[in-house]
Amino acid sequence: MAPARSNQSRVLIKGGKVVNHDFAEKADVYIEDGVIQQVGKDLSVPGGATIVDATDKLVIPGGIDTHTHMQLPFMGQVAIDDFYSGTRAAVAGGTTMIIDFVIPQKGEGLLQAYDKWRQWADPKVCIDYSFHVAVTWWSEAVKEEMETLVRDKGVNSFKIFMAYKDVFQLNDTQMIEVFKTCKELGALAMVHAENGDMVAELQKQMKSMGITGPEGHAYSRPEIVEAEAVNRAIMLSNQSHCPLYVVHVMSKSAADSITLNREKGQVVFGEPIAASLGTDGTNYFHKCWAHAAGHVLSPPLRPDPTTPKYLMQQLANGNLDCVGTDNCTFSTEQKALGKDDFTKIPNGVNGVEDRMSVVWTKGVRDGLIDECKFVEVTSSKAAKIFNLYPKKGRIAPGSDADIVVWDPSVKRVISKETHHQAVNFNIFEGQTVYGKPAYVFSQGVAVLEDGNLRVSQGHGKYVSRKPNCSHVYNILRHREQTQKPEAVQRDAYSGAVADASFSSPVGKGANSAAGGGGTSPRYGGSGDENGPGSAGRKTGPPPGQTDIHKSGFRLDVSLSRPPNQSRQSDDDRPIRPSSRVNREPGGGSSFTFG
Ligand code: URP
Ligand code: ZN
Ligand code: ZN
Repeated sequence: MAPARSNQSRVLIKGGKVVNHDFAEKADVYIEDGVIQQVGKDLSVPGGATIVDATDKLVIPGGIDTHTHMQLPFMGQVAIDDFYSGTRAAVAGGTTMIIDFVIPQKGEGLLQAYDKWRQWADPKVCIDYSFHVAVTWWSEAVKEEMETLVRDKGVNSFKIFMAYKDVFQLNDTQMIEVFKTCKELGALAMVHAENGDMVAELQKQMKSMGITGPEGHAYSRPEIVEAEAVNRAIMLSNQSHCPLYVVHVMSKSAADSITLNREKGQVVFGEPIAASLGTDGTNYFHKCWAHAAGHVLSPPLRPDPTTPKYLMQQLANGNLDCVGTDNCTFSTEQKALGKDDFTKIPNGVNGVEDRMSVVWTKGVRDGLIDECKFVEVTSSKAAKIFNLYPKKGRIAPGSDADIVVWDPSVKRVISKETHHQAVNFNIFEGQTVYGKPAYVFSQGVAVLEDGNLRVSQGHGKYVSRKPNCSHVYNILRHREQTQKPEAVQRDAYSGAVADASFSSPVGKGANSAAGGGGTSPRYGGSGDENGPGSAGRKTGPPPGQTDIHKSGFRLDVSLSRPPNQSRQSDDDRPIRPSSRVNREPGGGSSFTFG
């Protein structure tokens, strides 16, 4: 067997088992000029092709890591794995494409940030890559830039942070604006789901209790803080008719929220990461500070040690979709910025190199998924969701020759001593894993041969992605047509109408935020009931209105019915407010199955 060499444009991969997400068969693969030309048995190929022997090995689409942060400036530091060391490590592990995040500072232009990230990435990437863009503040200008990014820059996914209060966090109103804009543009919304206000409060509480170590990170970000945000994000996005992708699903509760919402017909995708599948949050309670801090990322790993298997099961049964890493590495020295205060530990861990082995080991070796599912969750589902399929994520004629010859028999122990990442820590340290690439092809070029790296900086290309991906938008667009809300045709109301110039107590009085404690006149009176000058004043509603304070919250039938409406047969039945609501088809949401 002659090994494949870089820059050789014709390669025949012989004798392996080709595995796609929907079939696996023994077949040869012929590549020319960076594209797969033929897949089958006994191929007739031009002479001079380099032959790669794949006997007893799998020939799979190169891995796609949906979530990386190479050289991210974050929490006062820059992530130590840059676009070179990070993508080189990716190749070592069998990943041939990353989708990284452009994250503008608050107030920074999205296009400016995008250009900056391109300048960082283009000269360094060893494999193809693409960008999601985060929306960290909101204005009309941001909306316009989102449009430009979709139209001219090949971006079709935007991320919102519900955490990192005062830094990246958006509130619900801003989120709705982003979701509406994504829907208009045919882009996919992504969300970092944690209730950032609650996290900030719990961080304060932990510190007031004298908890300053990494365990405070786990205590201040409990599962429910993640699950609540997941649920809220799904509601807000789907009510805006926008599909949602939940990044870094870290807990059982978050996964369950996705499952429940999907069962109700919400369009939402879930991304566990190598970290949440491969290790757990007991590490935050480790006696060695550097070890515990090395595992700090947000949302955190969960102290419940059965979480990784549970998340793998959710991938297996299709409740979760594809595996990313959130690779965002900080050295021990960088993490030590938070040695006296866990809130200052730069958030992020490794994963880009070990993702494929972790999924193979915990998924295929442990009997939870088969080879096809392995391909689905490590590449093809990502390609479908982000509109790259079948260019990426498939071994078929016409697809990019991003191919891994995967040797399932290799056994190794993960260690920071032998990994290719720049960071000096590995969250999977000491774990025995199975499966490793023997060959990796990026655009048809062998970037790993017989286990040896042959990468070159700048070889990777930026991959543009089109909007309106059918995989994420079809059902929502269909429902928009078939489940349109309809106005009820009825005679115009012809009865009396209250005087609109009257200021209600809710608008102006003690209950009003703007009222500032009830100093405004109520019911035309001269002051608050309990305030100065209220003694002896007779309070009551204006003519024709019921005093709700005296009604004991009983709904008065005679008041809830227009004057010209006659008595109904069910008037004697107890009235529940909700029973009077006209529901649109499909229940509370126009985009919910019954
Ligand atoms: O801790 C994390 N996840 N760091 C990277 C930024 C993010 O939240 O994705
Ligand atoms: Zn995040
Ligand atoms: Zn991230």
